[in-house]
Amino acid sequence: MQAILVEALGGPEQLVVRELPTPEPGPGQIRVDVTAAGVNFMDTGARRLGAATGRLPFTPGVEGAGRVSALGEGVDGLALGDRVAWVYAYGSYAQQLVLPAADAVPLPDDIPDYIAASVMMQGITAHHFTTEAAPVHPGQTTLVHAAAGGLGQKLTRLIKHQGGDVIALVSNQAKADLARAGGADHVLVSTGEAFVDRVLELTHGQGVHTVFDGGGETTFRASLKVVRRHGTLLYYGAVLGAAPVINLRELPRSIKICYPVFRDHIPDHQALLHRSAELFTLLRNGTLTPGDGGRTYPLHDAAQAHRDLESRATTGKLLLLP
Ligand SMILES: NC(=O)c1ccc[n+]([C@@H]2O[C@H](COP(=O)([O-])OP(=O)(O)OC[C@H]3O[C@@H](n4cnc5c(N)ncnc54)[C@H](OP(=O)(O)O)[C@@H]3O)[C@@H](O)[C@H]2O)c1
Repeated sequence: MQAILVEALGGPEQLVVRELPTPEPGPGQIRVDVTAAGVNFMDTGARRLGAATGRLPFTPGVEGAGRVSALGEGVDGLALGDRVAWVYAYGSYAQQLVLPAADAVPLPDDIPDYIAASVMMQGITAHHFTTEAAPVHPGQTTLVHAAAGGLGQKLTRLIKHQGGDVIALVSNQAKADLARAGGADHVLVSTGEAFVDRVLELTHGQGVHTVFDGGGETTFRASLKVVRRHGTLLYYGAVLGAAPVINLRELPRSIKICYPVFRDHIPDHQALLHRSAELFTLLRNGTLTPGDGGRTYPLHDAAQAHRDLESRATTGKLLLLP
């Protein structure tokens, strides 16, 4: 089977196609024939800095969907041929993948593989952010960074669904149109810190209730300036640079800062099934739309997908089709 391997850490050119033996599942594991693998911004960090597993070489990608093609000892509740999706299982940029059965979400008949693979990471994250990490209430105003991106568009749609207002931040005009189409109330085209004055103007000097910031340290410092009294800054931009160091006494206006980590979105199998079921409902009723201006690539073009993502040339969800 073909897989992408990172044999040495570095740029997109380190994503090479290799022929590997068919992986066999151990006890409690399944093998899946991958039909769609999600590309996430965090994958570029794994390629540059190393995967959470700490091993080299490794196959990147943590999200996807496909069909069960082998069952390890002791697996019940899944059968050969079942369609499943997963998130946070390393090795997804491949034609086949072995993962713990407990990490697999059985797919309902009306949710195609490519749609499931589009929402597992960014959809579950956006759902967790807006309902648990920083619940959005009707009438609240929010600022969403990279609002035309995979996560940003899902955040915008969920915030609007929950009755909040969205000030969307994007880096160019084409992205602005997409953010507006996704329901943003105001769209600011800006990079760096230039958004601060405009956000304060739009909120009559008060700032927003919540900032969703996946940018680097520069945007983090600027985001601090636009959180209103007792508001919340959700910061999840570690892939774009070192985590900002902050003296608690510098925190303005009694605001709260949250650094949400994916494992806390889905601490166990029940939470994974619950959030996935919620997502499928939000897809069925049209609150979430898969893709959102995204792109698909053949597996061997994984390096191009990373180049596009890192040059800020993409919108919506990127998928590899093995
Ligand atoms: N904590 C978690 O659980 C979690 C889960 C999922 C994602 N994340 C994080 O959320 C963020 C968005 O992830 P995503 O997968 O949905 O990616 P994405 O938003 O589809 O793509 C990344 C976007 O970041 C913006 N960006 C800002 N500065 C950039 C730079 N220097 N280089 C490249 N892009 C830059 C670009 O949008 P503009 O051009 O419009 O600025 C770009 O399109 C990432 O930081 C990711 O690591 C965290």
